[in-house]
Amino acid sequence: MKVGVLTGGGDCPGLNAVIRAVVKTASVKYNYKIIGIEDGFDGLILPNKSRELTPWNIRGILPIGGTILGTTNRSNPFEYKVMKDGKPEVQDVSREVMNNIQSMELDALIVIGGDGTLKIANELFKLGCPVVGVPKTIDNDILATDVTFGFHTAVQTVTDALDRLHTTAESHHRVMVVEVMGRYVGWIALETGIGGGADVILIPEIPFDIEKVGQKIMDRKKGGNRSNIVVVSEGARPVGGDVTVLHCAEAGGGAERLGGIGNKVGASIGNYGMEVRVTVLGHLQRGGSPCAFDRILSTQFGVAAVDLIARKRFGEMVCLRGKRIESVPFSDVAQGQKTVPTEDGLVKVAESIGISFGR
Ligand code: F6P
Repeated sequence: MKVGVLTGGGDCPGLNAVIRAVVKTASVKYNYKIIGIEDGFDGLILPNKSRELTPWNIRGILPIGGTILGTTNRSNPFEYKVMKDGKPEVQDVSREVMNNIQSMELDALIVIGGDGTLKIANELFKLGCPVVGVPKTIDNDILATDVTFGFHTAVQTVTDALDRLHTTAESHHRVMVVEVMGRYVGWIALETGIGGGADVILIPEIPFDIEKVGQKIMDRKKGGNRSNIVVVSEGARPVGGDVTVLHCAEAGGGAERLGGIGNKVGASIGNYGMEVRVTVLGHLQRGGSPCAFDRILSTQFGVAAVDLIARKRFGEMVCLRGKRIESVPFSDVAQGQKTVPTEDGLVKVAESIGISFGR
């Protein structure tokens, strides 16, 4: 068997750990050949973008962030941007991809990616591609898996940042507003807000009332607290308002980019007479070495992906359910996004210890 592996969408700590587990399992357990495909689906569209991966040439990648294969969120074969007569044009090159998979003599494909990449994998599966998926994202927004690798590393990075911001906030009696990633779901903000001791957490699932946020900060001031930490998810929005968009989506050109809500919230809190500073953590949350949990989960996912191929369970994605690694059809993943439940779980825990969601 000759199996292709690619990483699509944004990078995420743990991608290399999955690649390593795929290569090692293929070699130790099955004697399969693994072909690394570079830069996401670009590697199945453009020439000379693949190479054989062996246990020898992937040595040492377990703790390394990013992806040795490269990635891009601009290579959707169903909406591929090409230049025609000097002008950009969007084309469906999925048939070309299917032909290239054949000419590369790939018997199967492992796609490691977030919801966008997995949707593409599902479309290719419908065209007859023998593909399996591995879910990745720091956002933790993929349905059908309890958690994605990369999430815990991002949570630790943000928690460390909040610890640092506490000491400077306390010294200057300031409000520190911290904008974190997560796209349209609030998992990163919620977990880091609890883990990092925030006073206010604003998430997309609970539109906020800025007056309630201001009131919370004023109450804390009256109670003798001289600093505040406000964690704002990039997808948070006020009641009746919209998300703050930094860059609109383009056909064949990547997804909508969010950002800027932290500064808006900071300006509003400033109106309460508090001194405010805003920190946007940005891509720091995606970089660096995966934490131990993510290395282990990535390894489990990589092994399970090759096992799925051996069992010819194409069109499925590996997932974590409780402590078990299982698999689900791609169609289960395409149903939407895994959002934060607003009336139980960690939201209730946070409210029980006095954290405000601005509601
Ligand atoms: O999906 C992961 C993520 O980091 C989101 O949290 C964030 O909104 C987005 O990707 C940023 O994308 P880009 O790297 O294209 O700016």
